[in-house]
Parts: sequence; structure tokens; C-alpha cells
Amino acid sequence: MPITFDPSSRIFKLDTDSSTYAFLVHDEGYLVHLYYGPKVPDTAALAPLMYRGWYDSLSPRNPHVSDRRFSLDFIPQECPGSSNGDFRISALEVRSPAGDTVTDLRYTGHRIFPGKPELPGLPATFAQEGEAETLEIETADPVTGVKAFLLYTVFPGYDALARSVRVENPGSASVDLERAYSMCLELPSMDYDFLHMYGRWAKENTTVRHPLQHGLQGIQSKRGMTGPNHNPFAALVRKGADEDQGQAIGVSLIYSGNFSMEIEVDTLGCPRLLAGINPSTFRWRLEPGESFQTPEAVTVFSGEGLGGMSRRFHRLFLDHLMRSQWTKKKRPLLINDWEAAVFDFDDQLLVEFAQEAKELGVEMLVMDDGWFGARNNDYQGLGDWQVNENKLKGGLGHLIDQVNALGMKFGIWYEPEMVNPDSDLFRAHPDWIIQAKGREPSLSRNQYVLDMTRPEVRENIYQQMCAVLSSHNIEYVKWDCNRNISEAGNAVLPPERQGEFFHRYVLGVYELMDRITSTFPHILLENCSSGGGRFDPGMMYYSPQIWTSDCTDPIERLTIQFGASLCYPVASMGAHVSASPRTGFETKGAVALMGTFGYELDPRKLTPEEKAVAKEQIAAYHKYYDLIHYGDLYRITDPARDPYFADWQFVSPDRTEALFTRVVMRKPENYYQTQRLRGLDPEKYYTDEATGETYSGALLMSAGIDLSAPWPGPQDGSCVMKHFTARKAQG
Ligand code: GLA
Repeated sequence: MPITFDPSSRIFKLDTDSSTYAFLVHDEGYLVHLYYGPKVPDTAALAPLMYRGWYDSLSPRNPHVSDRRFSLDFIPQECPGSSNGDFRISALEVRSPAGDTVTDLRYTGHRIFPGKPELPGLPATFAQEGEAETLEIETADPVTGVKAFLLYTVFPGYDALARSVRVENPGSASVDLERAYSMCLELPSMDYDFLHMYGRWAKENTTVRHPLQHGLQGIQSKRGMTGPNHNPFAALVRKGADEDQGQAIGVSLIYSGNFSMEIEVDTLGCPRLLAGINPSTFRWRLEPGESFQTPEAVTVFSGEGLGGMSRRFHRLFLDHLMRSQWTKKKRPLLINDWEAAVFDFDDQLLVEFAQEAKELGVEMLVMDDGWFGARNNDYQGLGDWQVNENKLKGGLGHLIDQVNALGMKFGIWYEPEMVNPDSDLFRAHPDWIIQAKGREPSLSRNQYVLDMTRPEVRENIYQQMCAVLSSHNIEYVKWDCNRNISEAGNAVLPPERQGEFFHRYVLGVYELMDRITSTFPHILLENCSSGGGRFDPGMMYYSPQIWTSDCTDPIERLTIQFGASLCYPVASMGAHVSASPRTGFETKGAVALMGTFGYELDPRKLTPEEKAVAKEQIAAYHKYYDLIHYGDLYRITDPARDPYFADWQFVSPDRTEALFTRVVMRKPENYYQTQRLRGLDPEKYYTDEATGETYSGALLMSAGIDLSAPWPGPQDGSCVMKHFTARKAQG
């Protein structure tokens, strides 16, 4: 059983295949954290790990506790409250009917059950009985009566824990939730680095790793969406751990709105990490009888470095988060018209694109922005989701028929949350946009954000989308979101509930996305937010792929995709070959193959040589589809730090097949000639498909492969791909 409770020591142990998480119930009902790390067999012996300091005169102590070492000021906790003697950052803070924020949660019971419950209205990991086990701890505040239910689901084979909190108000007066984090993680020392990703439009997922410092540090969003600035992912990486070895704890928040991952390193050098909704833009009124469910946070423990952490996240998300039927179904290879045509297209041009692309082997045409309303530029049309028949003469059905007649599928673009001031929707409903009372709303890309907290707004957009999707053979939707939220305010909520707005917005978007994907389960949904501005696991629950970045330069894409791969599977990363000028056509394909793969260019403009390469790329896409989508990724170099090479490798789950790729970012004069492969079976023998030479896995992983080339060596922007297949061990 992965979850055990020892009644004599009152210790809960949550074991995965290679990790242990443990906490105890103190005599006074406090939930005291003990341990998170490599799997250990001990239980009662973990109890002394609760002590991290010595009671001193400035640290208050519960008068019923005689143990002088026990002050909440020092004790690691599972769900720290506030103003109860713990002066560090609090996970839960409830303003009581009396107006104070003392929040003091004590254990009142627990249950352990197979499987995992759904979180109402929120994306979350899922599991059948037998795949996971869940612990629900019930706590209550003795004065306000407010209850907090802490959920822990253990995914043993993935070394993962999924955590969230449900708060209930069983009292007779309303209370306000001021802070409601999804999880708290306490570690015993500063022997960890803080790793996270920052970025901006077209430059997402830059990784940064730095030592923990005393005091506060963290990442957040206040943009209404997750944004490209920080991704809701962080890792605490043991000093000395690297890509291939050492301990790393990854934290991923399954949420698409204002988030916070906050770390406080206390005076003793102990880090406390909180992950959840950003409290700086949050306050939630709980009336008597109401409850509030936080989003889910997932932690993954790896004793095999950052690579091991990423591979665990990838498998967990593919198996237990991305619920689309397309997650494990072969996805159609698409061409998107955006970078080639922008707003300047008509049905004839699209049919020509489809004809040319079909010749190459492309399977689906995606018509991006500009097909609806008066959308001839980005000043007009958002919100009016009716086909513009001046552009698509004969109507959308006629266009799709022509594309289908070529044997190709058809996909379409939407930006459901947005409206231009110059649109019929805005003229009819100017009050439907997000705006704070009495303030002029800002514009961004000439558009406003629709108030998705309001059911009538969602219903209107749903009906408009349904009218098109249900009457045409549309098999793919790109759901875009090209601005963030400012002047936040809601016309319907009373002043004391305005603090709920941002979270209600996210819930509204989830509801609409759920409705669309449930009504049209056959549609492959790809998310997008000016590229990777909402590249988060909340979105991944609904859409198995997300456009990773508006930057399609292959060299820049390397750091963007390598960064994303810290937490997210390659199968989720939208990646296309485009007309961007840097690198040769082969390299564009090699980089797009570390993603969903597709094209975003004018196929009529390809040279005969490029067309021949495209056909080879498409053959490679089919040949390596399973290996790339369901195999293990090994990042061999770090393109953000290596001056010359981006090297990576996929290995099939049974380790009989491997694909190595090198992109030469900058030509070295005197370059390394070998590279060690990763993740092979040392006992197996692998044949290099290109040369027919056979090597043991042991040799390939210790001596490496020969990448030398005659002088002057590999050129800037060139690439090498090597495919190895294994046969039985010799001898
Ligand atoms: C965003 C997306 C692009 C494209 C345009 C259309 O920038 O990231 O891929 O869809 O919008 O306006």
C-alpha cells in the first residue's frame, strides 16, 4: 500500500517506487511535516525530524505543549495557518467573522481510498482504482469551525504526489479566504537550488537555477493568465545534482491563472515552498455551507537528476493529465497559414496551400486568424465568429469540401475570450468586457477581454462556436488568447466579492473549454496564447498540444523547447518548420521533430530541393512518431549554456530504439568528436542505421558516438540525426 498510517507514532507515510513523504499528527492536532526524499523503510524513527530549532522567547508556544522545542515558528507543517505563532509565509489564511485572520488548523480525521476524486470545475490528474491511492486529511479551526481537507494522491510508478485543499465553512457566518495555497513543501536545509523558467513573448522558457537565499523568493503571475513571464513550474535541485544524477523535486501547478510559487528560507536555513493561487489578487467569500477547492499541485521526486524528473512528469502528464482522445492517437500532420498569409488570404489561396502541401504528404490544413467577421487586420472582428464570405467565397463548407476532396483534414482558429471594440459583439454588448468601474479599459493588440465569469457571455461564444463547428467538417481548433487582463473588475459581483474575479475568470474559461471539448470530442484542440503565454498543465488537460512560441527560428526554439521539456512532454509542444531565415531546411525539421511537427510557410514558395527535404522530414515524422511521442527524452547538452551544440535523444520505453539529434548552433573550430548516449540498455547491441555498424549499449553510453567530420567540420545551423536499433544481447 503506498499510503500507510501508523497509529502508535501517528505518522503518515506516502511511498512511491523511489520516494517517501512523511508527516505526523501532533498531540495537539498539528500536522507536522517530517520528510520528503529517497524512499526509506523507517516510520517511527522519522519523528525527531520535526525539530528544527529551539524554543526561544520570541517564538510563541501553545500553552498546552510542554515540549520546549515545539514552537510553530520552527516546526515544518503540512498546511501552515496564520497568526498562530508561525511567522513564516502561510498556506491558508481565513478572515473570521470577527475580522481577525488567526487560522489554526488541527487534525480531526482522515480516510484513505483507492483512485482519485475529480476536482469540481478544475483540471487535475486522474486515475482509476489500482493506479493511485488517495489520502484525505480533515482539519478544522477550533474557533471559526472552518474545515480544510488536504488531499494527497500517490502515483507510485511516477514518483508523484498530487495535492490540493478544499476549504469548507460549516459555520453560521461568512468568512473570507485571503490565502488558499494548494500545497506546502518544507525542506530541512538550504542544500538546494531554485530552478524555474522565465520569459517573454517569443522568448519563453529560459531556465534559471540559483542558490536559495535567506528570505523570500519566488515566481508569480498577476496577468489573469499564466503568461510567458514565469511558468507555473519550479524545481528544488540538490546541490551537485545535474541533468543525469542527483536529487530534484519538481513542482507543477495545474492552473492557468494568477499563480504564485513562493519560497521562504527561514532563519534556520529551512525552505518552505508554497504553490497555488496568487494571494495578491485573491480573496474569496465563503458563505455558511459553501466550500472552495484549490487547484492541484503535483510534486515529482527524482533521484536521477533533472532528466529523471522531467521523464516522470512527461509520463504522468501523458497518462494521467492530458485527457483528450488525441493524446495517444496519432495526430494529423498539419500546415498552418498564419506566418505565410497573416490576414491576407482567400479560399483560392488556401486551396493552393492545401494542394501543394498534400503533394508533400501534409495531412491537415489549418486556417488561422482572419476568416471571420470583418477581420482584415487586428483592429476588427474578434467576437464575430461568422464566416467572412468576401474572403471565403462560396462559404466555409465549400472550402472544406475542396480540402477534404484532396484527402486532407481541416482545422480552424478561434480566440474565444476576446473582442475588438470594432465588432458587432462589442457594439451589442459593450458591458461584457472586463473593466473596473469608472476606469477606462486598456487595449492590448487592439482588443478587450470578455468577462468569462458571466454565463451569458460564455453561452454567446459557445453558441457562436457551435454554429460553425457543428455544421462543418472541422477536425482541429486552435484556441488563442492574445492579451492579459488589466483594470480587472466585474459588473455583477458585489464589492466584497471582487477579489474572486480572477479565479472565477479561469473557472469560466475551463468551463467553456470543457463544454467545447465535450461537445466535439473528436476535435484536436491546440492551445495558444501569443505563442507559449499559457503553456501550462491546466490547458494541457483540455488540449494535448500547445503552440510553444511565436518564435519559429530553430536556434531560438532550441532553448524554448528544451526549457518547456523540463516539465512538459514533447508531444505537447507545437513546433513547425517555418520560412524563418536562419539554418538550413533540414535543421528546421530536426527541431520541429522535438515537438508535434508541422509546417507554417507558403508551400508554393519551396524550392524543389526544399520539397525533397520536406518529404524526407515527413517520412521521418511517421517513422519516429511513437519514439518521439511516447519515448523517453534525454537532454544531453543545454543549448542555453553550451556554446556550440544542442544534443538530445529519444529512447523507446523498451530501450530497443534510440534517435540522437545534434544541432550545431555555432560552428566550433576544434570541436568534440564524440558524444555519450544516454538511457540505453548496456546489455543490448545497437546498430547505427546509417553505417550498419553495431555497438554495445555500454560502449555507446561510456565512450559515445563518433561525430567527427572532415575539416572544416559542421557548419553553423547544421544538424545530425542518428538512429539506432537494438538486437538481442550477444553471447
Ligand atoms: C497569435 C498566435 C499566432 C497566430 C496569431 C493570429 O500571435 O500565437 O500563432 O495565431 O495570434 O493572430
